[in-house]
Parts: sequence; C-alpha cells; structure tokens
Amino acid sequence: MNIAIFFSGNGSNMLNIKNAVDEKKIEANIKVYICNNRNAKGIKKLKESRDNLIIIDHHNFSSINNWEKEVEKHLKNLEISLICLAGFMKILSKKFVKRWERKIINIHPSLLPAFKGLNAQKQALNYGVKYSGCTIHYVNEELDSGEIIDQSIVGISKNETVSSLTKKILIEEHKIYINALRNIVKRN
Ligand code: GRF
Repeated sequence: MNIAIFFSGNGSNMLNIKNAVDEKKIEANIKVYICNNRNAKGIKKLKESRDNLIIIDHHNFSSINNWEKEVEKHLKNLEISLICLAGFMKILSKKFVKRWERKIINIHPSLLPAFKGLNAQKQALNYGVKYSGCTIHYVNEELDSGEIIDQSIVGISKNETVSSLTKKILIEEHKIYINALRNIVKRN
C-alpha cells in the first residue's frame, strides 16, 4: 500500500509511522511526506528520507483548493491510496475530502466527539474532565467528525498542565496510530 504522510509541525507522529514502516511493523511504502510549512521542526527529523519530502508551503497558494491541486498531482503520480494526517494543521476542503473518502486518517488529541478543533488538551483542562485521550479517525467533510477507528484514554491528575497532558496523550497517539495503520494496511 502506498501511503502519504502530511505534517505541519513537530512531526513526532510522522516519525513514529516512519520508524514503524522501517522496522517492518507496517507493510506499507511511504512514497511521500508532504509538509505545508517550510519551518516545520519535523523536516529535520526525516534525515536521509528527506528525498521523499515535498514542501508545499501554503503561503504560496491563494487558496486551500490551489494548494490541494498541487498536492494531488503528486498523490496521483505516486499512486497513493492512503493519506495519513500526522499533526497536519490545515483544514482540507470538503471537495478534497470527498474525493478521498475513507482514504484519509487523522489523529486528534481528545476523546472525540469531545473537544474538536485546536487546543484540545486546553479545552479538556478548562472543562475539568477527569479523563481525556486521543482518537484516530477517518476524515470526513466535518472537522474531527469522521468514523472513529480507535481511541486511548489517559487520566488527568490534579496538577495537570497543558504541557504534561500533551506529553501523556502523545504517547498514546503513537500507539494507536501504528495499530490502526497496521490494520488498515492488512485489510487492503
Ligand atoms: C498531535 O497532538 C496530534 O494529535 C495533533 O497535532 C499534534 C501533532 O504532534 N493533530 P506531532 O507534530 O505529531 O508531534
């Protein structure tokens, strides 16, 4: 299965998938890494795999549709059948998502449907929930609303901060992303 990984920032989920593929825990080919932000910290983490990186900076495009057109040229050339969003911080257009129905998966740092959108960890702390976690889901036309593939729960302690909660959740994100991806790849 040919997969593409989209990322925008730190790239820990991206690197986690890359390592799992390198270690043959997932029988897929990462044909391309697409980054929409030329300053993303994750770029350096790719090291020798930077040959497969394409930076398509969204600042150079007048709309998300034009950005997507450029991206899709590469996805088609490379015969991509699954897009893994891994800390990808742009909202894809409804048309793009429709064209790639059930072919895009995303990781979100909350137990969806709670705390959609940005700063999910902060939203959870502000709300005062005692448990939060992460969700891996298919992407549909509504933000953070596609079919849930898997979730993992973390407890929130009394002195929890956004930073400590983010770290705890990230550990779980890495686990469920690999499991979900492995299962999807096996089924195809
Ligand atoms: C993760 O918390 C992910 O759930 C969210 O953005 C963050 C990205 O982290 N969508 P990283 O770039 O993978 O380290």
